[in-house]
Amino acid sequence: MCGIFAYLNYNVNKERRYILQVLFNGLRRLEYRGYDSAGIAIDSSSENPPSSSPSCPNNSVISPPPLVFRREGNIETLVKSVYQEVAETDLNLEESFSVHAGIAHTRWATHGEPAPRNSHPQSSDDGNEFLVVHNGVITNYELAVDTPTSGQITCIANNLVLKETLVRHRFTFESETDTEVIPKLAKFVFDKANEEGDQTVTFCQVVLEVMRHLEGAYALIFKSRHYPNELIACKRGSPLLLGVKIVLTREQKAKAQGMLPEKCDKDDNREMNPDFRYWPHQGEELDPTKGQINQKELMEGDCNGSAFHDDKFLLKNGHPKELFLSSDANAVVEHTKRVLVIEDGEVVHLKDGEATILKFDNDKGKHGGSLSRPASVQRALSILEMEVEQINKGNYEHYMQKEIHEQPESLKTTMRGRLIRGGSCKAKTVLLGGLKDHLKTIRRSRRIVFIGCGTSYNAALAARPILEELSGIPVTMEIASDLLDRQGPIYREDTAVFVSQSGETADTLLALEYALDNGALCVGITNTVGSAIARHTHCGVHINAGCEIGVASTKAYTSQIVVMAMLALAIGGDTISNQARREAIIDGLFDLPNKVREVLKLDQEMKDLASLLIAEQSLLVFGRGYNYATSLEGALKVKEVALMHSEGILAGEMKHGPLALVDETLPIVVIATRDTCFSKQQSVIQQLHARKGRLIVVCSKGDAAAVSSGGSCRVIEVPQVEDCLQPVVNIIPLQLLAYHLTVLRGFNVDQPRNLAKSVTTQ
Ligand code: AGP
Ligand code: GLU
Repeated sequence: MCGIFAYLNYNVNKERRYILQVLFNGLRRLEYRGYDSAGIAIDSSSENPPSSSPSCPNNSVISPPPLVFRREGNIETLVKSVYQEVAETDLNLEESFSVHAGIAHTRWATHGEPAPRNSHPQSSDDGNEFLVVHNGVITNYELAVDTPTSGQITCIANNLVLKETLVRHRFTFESETDTEVIPKLAKFVFDKANEEGDQTVTFCQVVLEVMRHLEGAYALIFKSRHYPNELIACKRGSPLLLGVKIVLTREQKAKAQGMLPEKCDKDDNREMNPDFRYWPHQGEELDPTKGQINQKELMEGDCNGSAFHDDKFLLKNGHPKELFLSSDANAVVEHTKRVLVIEDGEVVHLKDGEATILKFDNDKGKHGGSLSRPASVQRALSILEMEVEQINKGNYEHYMQKEIHEQPESLKTTMRGRLIRGGSCKAKTVLLGGLKDHLKTIRRSRRIVFIGCGTSYNAALAARPILEELSGIPVTMEIASDLLDRQGPIYREDTAVFVSQSGETADTLLALEYALDNGALCVGITNTVGSAIARHTHCGVHINAGCEIGVASTKAYTSQIVVMAMLALAIGGDTISNQARREAIIDGLFDLPNKVREVLKLDQEMKDLASLLIAEQSLLVFGRGYNYATSLEGALKVKEVALMHSEGILAGEMKHGPLALVDETLPIVVIATRDTCFSKQQSVIQQLHARKGRLIVVCSKGDAAAVSSGGSCRVIEVPQVEDCLQPVVNIIPLQLLAYHLTVLRGFNVDQPRNLAKSVTTQ
């Protein structure tokens, strides 16, 4: 959870007002990741001394204390209060900075309630010598750590608690966060080095030493008065990327356009063939010819409002530029499409217009004790294949609403280039480029294990029957956290499929680590190119649903089901006996966007239904077979955003307990569309009618009479599609219901209470 963001302008004049705007906009783009409190740190004066250098000992260049603003509540609360404070203190918004490093944070609290003192940036001391924004959890902040005693900057004794050690050294803690130990540890390391006479200790050395003591998951950005105009970012577990925007003079721009116009255009408007969407294999270098994130050599230059030049490395020159660090691409894409996804263990040092990337090796630090600067690594920039429009609400009021209505298009994008209609004598088929080299291994597996959380788990559950049917391989389901809690058996002969919209969910990632350790073939299904799951699985499929910002997952769910249906087709052999079934599914997939468009016309009907249910306390959803998942997912949507208790129930289990809840008042949704379970669902309806249940039945078009005989009920008719694709259609009225219920009940649709989009903590 949490969003971290930083903006560094180098050799390009920017007024304080502009810097604030960039930081606030960055936070707005990341707000869906956490929204209980927020904060920023900026410089109080443009009169900073130059960055430290060996010839300029750092302890002699301390700059004025940065200004830190932290507020409980959402970003707009922070923005308002900052401008208010600026007005009260006469802070000059027009003051211009040719170099400036600002950091920002939007929080989803893990340690300590939402409050200004617990908001980030967290600080080392009253003078804000070191400031840190953090996404993740430090697990050893109060627990014992085993630390070595040798090293250039040796500071923490063996087996002492970080916080306890710091308290003993007279640090006072202001917050209840785990994060606060980090800036304090940085100050401790810095002071210690100086006390020991090392006045040339660099920012990097300080941060590397701090990292050596941290356990848990983190993406961190450090800012320090001792190292003005520099930033350091590092990560382990939580996501982080660097965005680079080269700023050109008018002459340079003109020259560049004259030189290489075609190349620029081509790079910006490239149409990717989704069959070759790249899914990185473990340990494999990124391949520039296959990238969905498209690789570019550093020496090529920038096409985003800038140009090509002769510098050897784009990141290694004194050229004017703007650099961004962010938890995800959403906050960067409006500035530049040139990004670098930071890997675990990497440390990014932004200084003098250069971005140096070092590879931190924790073991080396522990056993060798040497804090000499690790070797820098050379990385290629990637081009984001994402447009700013994707992350705007357009004409919709809420992201959730937009994403529900986008589904005909998102499903098309998911399928584009992957379904082959077949010629006169060729069979219709499916091509999943990211899996083709692994299909044989998958077909030989002893079982397929689907692993995910929340909506992603539900999507896998919806796809399970068709995968079992077409592949003949047993398919089991695992909620990631439960698999970890039980340390459930995963074998070498298993194929473990990790389903995750964000590709960053901590539980799913840890389950992936576990499955890799157990030797399973690991397949990823995710919406986020470059995410941890995409990077660490052996192979996989991107769902290509486009950016999903609403915390409630909607379009990702339907695209995940479609990808898994295609997966079933790809794994299941093309035999004569199943040809008709395969073709029917492929035809159904082709037609699915139209059916979804049709079902979206129920919008007003679902709004009317929502107005009838607005004051209810509870809602049950009964489903079975393909639509057991629909009942779980529909109920999850209602509870998650409308804050109404709702439970998805396997209809076959009704008589084993839930029936006791049924009376004339409790609203019950029954999914009873046409498939092999239809007659069983009819008898469920009859049993509910017999107990005067208050029913809302989702049925196939034309079945209204069949489902309402025997009692009164409200009927929602949806178009009928191939049974395994019916969950895609059936979930839509429930998504609309959850959306309208939320709006009518007056809750925040896109930022439901206590939740955040990406759950990067366990
Ligand atoms: C969906 O509406 C929820 N916000 C949540 O259950 C989500 O699906 C879950 O946290 C898993 O996220 P992921 O798909 O990004 O891994
Ligand atoms: N653990 C930190 C805090 O509670 C960061 C939270 C997060 O990234 O979710 O402040």
